[in-house]
Amino acid sequence: MIFRFEDTAHVTKEELSAQAPNLEPYIERLNKVAKADNYMYEESSINLPFDGDILEKILKLRAKYATPKLKYILDIGIGGSNLGTKAIYDAMYGYFDMVEPDRFPKMIFADTNDPVFIYKLYEFLRTKINDPAEMIINAVSKSGKTTETIVNLDIIASNVPFAKERLVITTNYNSDLWKTARDLGIDCLPIPGNVGGRFSTFSSVGLFPLACLGLDVTELLKGAMEARKGCLIGNTLKNPAAISATVIFLNYIKGKLIHDQFFFHPELESLGKWYRQLMGESIGKDGKGITPTVSIGSTDLHSMGQLYLGGIKDKFFTFISTKNPKIDISVPQEPLLEILSEVEEKSTSEIMNAILGGVKAAFLKKDLPFMEIILDDISPSALGQYMQFKMMEMMMLGKLLGVNAFDQPSVESYKQETRKILTGR
Ligand code: PA5
Repeated sequence: MIFRFEDTAHVTKEELSAQAPNLEPYIERLNKVAKADNYMYEESSINLPFDGDILEKILKLRAKYATPKLKYILDIGIGGSNLGTKAIYDAMYGYFDMVEPDRFPKMIFADTNDPVFIYKLYEFLRTKINDPAEMIINAVSKSGKTTETIVNLDIIASNVPFAKERLVITTNYNSDLWKTARDLGIDCLPIPGNVGGRFSTFSSVGLFPLACLGLDVTELLKGAMEARKGCLIGNTLKNPAAISATVIFLNYIKGKLIHDQFFFHPELESLGKWYRQLMGESIGKDGKGITPTVSIGSTDLHSMGQLYLGGIKDKFFTFISTKNPKIDISVPQEPLLEILSEVEEKSTSEIMNAILGGVKAAFLKKDLPFMEIILDDISPSALGQYMQFKMMEMMMLGKLLGVNAFDQPSVESYKQETRKILTGR
């Protein structure tokens, strides 16, 4: 992964150095958490990639459920309980589902309670699954009581004939959901206590469904391990998470209240949404916060480009691209319709690089601040690296802003109010 910010992020080395004393003690704490290698601290999610016990448990259940007949993995969960899994699935497979109809297994995500979707999903499972082995249902809820997740689980588990025998529940050890499921003989996977939803992708939350899919989860974890190593470096000028957090923080102080993650790969849109939650829930509190947005290059240049380049200057950008395209395809030398001679014989990756280059040049001309992340490729390892880097960046950004990056009191308040309306009390 390449991370660039010098000359484009509107931050000087002196400004970065001045923030070092605000982060160094926290990096020391993160090192202590890493050494402890347990789940006693709020930051303990950084130990997930090294947890052999979780890996063993999920691989054991994968062997039980993911047989060669498997066609669909239904992931029921919301927010931190499904966004990371969806980010990885869409990056590797999901975006291509429409044009690869014969590739299995596929994942289906059920998060909100949209009546049409849930009805159609239920009908699909009821009529199209011929053999229970074609399907795994994984319901994920840390608290075990999120309305949307329990509603979807209740509808599917009670109505689809084979549901109970193909159901795996991922939740806090001994939550009500855990106890009820165990009483019914349903397999359960625990989520370590101090690991909050948005930091939980490398626990059984993400690892079990992704492993069932056939994704190399050890590569995902290796990428995360590598990122953790870099993000524990004590010198903040050499630590990518510390630099990134400080750059975003300094731009926030200078009035850049929006952080746009601009991905030049459409299959990374869900990764942007995962980050949106990470930033929104971790630092949006106590009257503070940076609004995270997601743009897709080059699609959104044709919808948001005008605003970004010509409108109000309240945004900081991160451009995300890759070094190595998996596959490339070129415009023919003599295309059927010879309209733009400059694109003839050019590969689509060359064209995308030219567009990204054009965008960066236009941003520089307008004096718009940005940083850049270039992933090696779109692979489990690169995704693991990126996600671990961003989770540690967010912990440090919370520290710089003086907010608790690990709670979400306002989300809880909407959940409580919803329950009051539904119970009539
Ligand atoms: O990150 C978080 O903590 C939240 O987004 C939760 O993941 C989300 O509200 C779902 O909660 P639960 O996993 O308890 O069902």
